[in-house]
Formats: sequence, structure tokens, C-alpha cells
Amino acid sequence: MSADGERRAYLDHAATSVLRPAAREAFVEASLVQGNPSSVHATGRRARAVLDDALELIAELLEVPRSWLIMTSGGTEADNLAIRAVATGAVAADSSRTAVAVAATDHPAVVATARSLQALTPSIEARLLPVDDQGILQADRAADALADGAVSVMSTALVNNETGALQDLAALAAIARAHGTLVHTDAVQGVGHVRRPSWDDIDLMSLSGHKIGAPVGVGVLVAKPDVPFGTTSTGGGQQRGVRSGTLDLALAAAFAAALQETVRDREQESRRIRALARRLRDGIRQIDSSARLTLSEESPQSGHIVHVVFPGAHSDSLLFLLDERGVDSSAGSACSAGVTQASPVLAAMGLSEEDARGALRLSLGWTSTDQDVDVLLQALPESLRRARAVGALFG
Ligand SMILES: Cc1ncc(COP(=O)(O)O)c(C=O)c1O
Repeated sequence: MSADGERRAYLDHAATSVLRPAAREAFVEASLVQGNPSSVHATGRRARAVLDDALELIAELLEVPRSWLIMTSGGTEADNLAIRAVATGAVAADSSRTAVAVAATDHPAVVATARSLQALTPSIEARLLPVDDQGILQADRAADALADGAVSVMSTALVNNETGALQDLAALAAIARAHGTLVHTDAVQGVGHVRRPSWDDIDLMSLSGHKIGAPVGVGVLVAKPDVPFGTTSTGGGQQRGVRSGTLDLALAAAFAAALQETVRDREQESRRIRALARRLRDGIRQIDSSARLTLSEESPQSGHIVHVVFPGAHSDSLLFLLDERGVDSSAGSACSAGVTQASPVLAAMGLSEEDARGALRLSLGWTSTDQDVDVLLQALPESLRRARAVGALFG
């Protein structure tokens, strides 16, 4: 329901989810606490206690020691640290570690960071790992990329933000371990939908608050203690010196509250959301027999994203027409939206530019209901007809 009472279907949880009441309450309560958690006086100590409680809870929910947590401003900063700071730290510790390897389909926070690292530090090479037509990293190609022992860190999203493709981190970790390569996973889209990878298989993991019902502006990089970090920013030396700066108690508390509900409800919610996604897919197929689901139902995936290509329709027009009929959806990843451009994710999976032009991403989350599915299925036939008419006019 929108603010003016119109029944809208919010089908863009992968862009940002809905703030959870528990997170809002934790935020408001902690925002009333005065003081800097680093100060030693009583006011500072009270602030420290609130921060400590939040960090303890996050660590407990992720099943790691608290010292592994580095709070960030979101997934983007966590990914930047995991690629840029780790690559520079690793090459400083061992001059033969002159490369990073990232999945070609990863979020720009990873891929653009690897590319910029190479541009700014020509001694570091960025290697892109190819995926198959279901968006799954090809293990033999990953093994080739790591074979010379030069890769310090390999990064792949646990769940892809456009298609929902789910990687087999245990298999990839086995390859990485054989070459002394650290494994980072961007689990921003995975939390709440799939099982967390084992800490035996990964060294670093990025999370983002606003994808799980916390406010925008908070995230976490989980990093094992032996991960080398180069200096990418400097300051008061908080958080192992990796990410200096005074932490926001309210954001940390809200993140902890949202993560608690997300972890507690994961299995049940994931079953519920998969059932809604099934209804979406079946309904879409009935409405348009030419619609092509980007991932086959048998492919490993998170279950909260339905990515579909409507041949002959322009996503921009389709988005606009659906929006008019009360549906919030996305053409690709909203993080890179604003301007719609051909999706590098779909290109890496082998989709033609023409196919990618008709792509729609519908993503579900904790507030999604059958009614959201109904609104979309009701709006789709006419929106599609008109989007195709636009497609026919402009080619
Ligand atoms: C997989 C993935 N990684 C990173 C990010 C960036 O997270 P944030 O918006 O918290 O910076 C996103 C946002 O869409 C994402 O989906």
C-alpha cells in the first residue's frame, strides 16, 4: 500500500527492502543514547554498551567472533574493502600475489572496484571469471584463472542481484584453497534467502542493511583475523584500523535487529517466498507464452528473484507502464539504474543485446504477499501489449 492508500505491489526488494518495525524501534531507541562509544566517561561507556550489545548480537547470528566484524556504510563499502584493501594488503605481504579474480556477473561494487584497482595500481591485474548461461561460475575456468598462484582474493556473489543465481561456494573454495587464494563472497542478496556458506569455505563476507529491512547506510564486512588489509583510508584506528571512524550506534542496533528477524525466519520465509515466486512464474507463462525465464527452475537460485525476458518489449516502457498500474519493478539492478544500459550480467550469461532489452526483474521480500502477485498479473497483459507496441515502433 502506498502512502496515499493506493494498492501497489512492491516487487523490488532486491533494490531495497522495507524497513522492519523491529529495526526502526531499535534505531529510535539507540539514537536517543548520547555519547561517543570511544569516550571513557560514564556517558561514553553507556554508548559503548549499546554498541557492544548490537555487535555481540550480529556476531552471534553470523556465528563468528565479534572481532571479525567491520561495520561499514553498506554493501558497496564492504565490497570495496574486500577487494581493494585486501589486494593491496596481500601484495604488500607477498609480492607474488599480483592479481584479483572476480565473477564477471558480480555487482559493480566488486567488478568496478577490481577494474579501478588495476587502473590505479597497474602492478595488480583484475581477472574476470566467466559464468555459464545460468550465471554459474565455471569451476574449470576459475581453476585456470587461479592456477599461477598470483590471485590474492577471489570474489563471487553468493546470490546474483539481477538473476538470483546461487553459486556453489564450497566447490569454488576448494579450488581457491589449493592455490592459497582468499575467498570473498558478497552475500548482500543471499541473507534471508539461502543458507550462509560455511566459514571453512570463505574468508570474507559482505552484507548490507537495507536489503534485510534495516535502514540504508549500514553494512558489515566479516573478515577472518588473518586477512591482510592494506590502508585505503586513515583515521582514529577503529575497527582494526581497516575502517576508522566513530560508529553509529543507532544503525548498528537497527542492523542487529533486522538480522535477528531475518536469520530467525529464514527457512519459513524462504519457503513462503519461493511459493509466491512460483505463482509469479506460472502466471507470467500463462499470460505470455513467449516469455523466457532467464534461469530454469532447476538451476540453483535464491528464490526471491524472478528474472524474465519478454521478446519485443522494451524494459523501460514496460517498467513505466507497470508503474502506472501500481507495480514497482526493475529492469536490471537498481543500483546501476537511472540510466538503463545493457546489463553486463546478462551479456556474461550469453544473452543477446536484443533479448536483454526486454528483461524484467521482480524481487520479493518479507512484506510480499499473494496480493502483490495478483496486482502484477493483472497489470501485465495490457502493459506488455503497449510495451510491445512501443518496441515495434522503435525497433
Ligand atoms: C549483490 C550486491 N552487492 C552490493 C550492493 C551494494 O549495497 P549497498 O547499496 O548497501 O551499498 C548491492 C545493492 O544492490 C547488491 O545487490
